[in-house]
Amino acid sequence: MPVLGNKKKTYDTTGLKVPVSLGVIMDGNGRWAKKRLLPRSAGHRAGAENLKELCRNCGRYGVKYLTVYAFSTENWARPEDEVHQLMELFVEFFEKYDPELEQEGIRVRFTGDIASLPEKVRETIAIGEERSKNRQKMQLIVAMNYGGRREIESAVRKIASRVKSGEVEPEEITEQMISDNLYLPDVPDPELIIRPSGEFRISNFLLWECAYSEFWISDTLWPDFGYDELTQAFRDFAGRDRRFGGLSSKEAST
Ligand code: IPE
Ligand code: IPE
Ligand code: MG
Repeated sequence: MPVLGNKKKTYDTTGLKVPVSLGVIMDGNGRWAKKRLLPRSAGHRAGAENLKELCRNCGRYGVKYLTVYAFSTENWARPEDEVHQLMELFVEFFEKYDPELEQEGIRVRFTGDIASLPEKVRETIAIGEERSKNRQKMQLIVAMNYGGRREIESAVRKIASRVKSGEVEPEEITEQMISDNLYLPDVPDPELIIRPSGEFRISNFLLWECAYSEFWISDTLWPDFGYDELTQAFRDFAGRDRRFGGLSSKEAST
């Protein structure tokens, strides 16, 4: 059994329910840098290094889909040079770390308003998806220029054009149809969403998909969020009573 605080990584899943689909809001890079009197860019770099670590840990624990929030549709409001550094870091990360992702069997996919990203970033996305498409162990889904509202807007637009063409009647629109028109309809809704850095909000992440997600908030800033806390989050998740509006399994059987 893994002992918390013990630095040895055992990936022992005995008694540990690991989510098939996990979402992580990688927040707190700026505060991490500020605490060290470093520029915000150093925090983003440390955050990117930690993403590599998270991928390895999740892959070894048996997570199948890991969706990470890298850049939101609202993050364009930041100073131009910070946005530029984030885009550069994104390109650098996938060039530098693809061999390690490959070693871990990690397929890379992207979700978000990809068409509005700079050309270099779109190129990195296309190359990253293509070269990793046959990897089987885990999917890393990077939410880049992602906004839950924009995703729903795009699904509504796709459905509306089918209504306009007479292919679908308004009465035939279902929840399932909306799910099927999201960016990556084959990716299961996240069972657990982790947000480090102590913020109690969703910040426009996976709005449709999080309807029944469990939440786990930690005060640790993203670059410091490691194996021990991930293990703790999975332990807590294993103990949650997920009722989905019904009764807990114990009550249902009495
Ligand atoms: C997350 O860290 C990275 C992005 C949003 C791109 P922040 O940059 O938001 O860090 P804080 O919240 O200012 O500490
Ligand atoms: C959420 O963090 C977005 C990402 C981690 C990419 P923000 O730092 O943008 O969220 P707010 O502004 O605190 O809600
Ligand atoms: Mg933040």
